[in-house]
Amino acid sequence: MADAQRNVVILDKIDRVYEMGEEPLYALKQLHLEIEDGDYVAIMGTSGSGKSTLMNLIGCLDRPTNGTYILNQNDVFNLGDDELASIRNSTIGFVFQQFNLLPSMTAFENVMLPLVYAGVPKEQRKIRAEFALNQVGLGQRIHHRPNQLSGGQQQRVSIARAIVNKPRILLADEPTGALDSHTAEEILTLFDDLVTQGITVILVTHDGEVANRASRIVRMKDGEIVSDSRIREINRAGV
Ligand SMILES: Nc1ncnc2c1ncn2[C@@H]1O[C@H](COP(=O)(O)OP(=O)(O)OP(=O)(O)O)[C@@H](O)[C@H]1O
Ligand SMILES: [Mg+2]
Repeated sequence: MADAQRNVVILDKIDRVYEMGEEPLYALKQLHLEIEDGDYVAIMGTSGSGKSTLMNLIGCLDRPTNGTYILNQNDVFNLGDDELASIRNSTIGFVFQQFNLLPSMTAFENVMLPLVYAGVPKEQRKIRAEFALNQVGLGQRIHHRPNQLSGGQQQRVSIARAIVNKPRILLADEPTGALDSHTAEEILTLFDDLVTQGITVILVTHDGEVANRASRIVRMKDGEIVSDSRIREINRAGV
C-alpha cells in the first residue's frame, strides 16, 4: 500500500500513449513509481526509453493517457489546468540541459520571473531572488545576461530560478549534459546541498558517475521501469 505521508510522488498504472503512425506508441507503459520526501533519485535508460516523458508528468507539464498521480497528497490529474499550474508553481522546480533562460533578461530578472507568476510583491521578489542567486554562488553576477555568463554559471542561474519558490521537488533533465566535468561537479555539489536542505531531487542522466551521487537509481527501458535500487540511505539531516 502506498504511503501517502512519506511519498511526495505516487504514480500508478501510468500510460502515456502517442498516436503517431499506425501503431500507438507507448512512451510509458503501466508505470508505477513512488518517491519518498527528501530522496535523491537518478533516472537512467537508453534514448527514447521515456525518461523525459516521465519527468514532464512528474512536473505536471503533461498529463498521462491513463493512470493516477498523487503529488504531495493531491490527486493532480483530476485538477483543472489552473489548479494544476498553481500546484506546479508551488511544488516543483525545473532544471534543463540547455538552461532555458530568457536571453533578454539578466540573471536577476530570470530568477525573479517565477515569483512574478506567483504574485509575490516586488520587494519580496528582489530579496528572494538575491538569496537564491547567493545560494548558488552567483551573487556577484546578478546583472549579467545569459550570453555574458559561462555554461556553468547559466546552469546556476537556472537552479536559482528553480529553487526561488522553495519547491518540494527539483526536477533536472540531464542538468550536466552540456557541461564539462569540472563544472558538472560543481553543479552536483549544489544538488547535494539542496538534498541536505530537504528538497527531493529527481534527475535524469546518461552518466553512471552522476547517477552514483544519488541515493536511488531507477532504470527505464521501453517505457517501463526495469530496475530500481537504493544505493544509500536518504539524507535526512535537513528534514
Ligand atoms: N510529442 C511526442 N510525440 C510523439 N512521440 C513522442 C513525443 N515525445 C516523445 N515521444 C516518443 O516517446 C518515447 C519516449 O521519449 P522520451 O523523450 O521520453 O525519451 P528519453 O528517455 O527522454 O530519451 P533521451 O535520452 O533521448 O532524452 C520516444 O519513442 C519518443 O519518440
Ligand atoms: Mg529525454
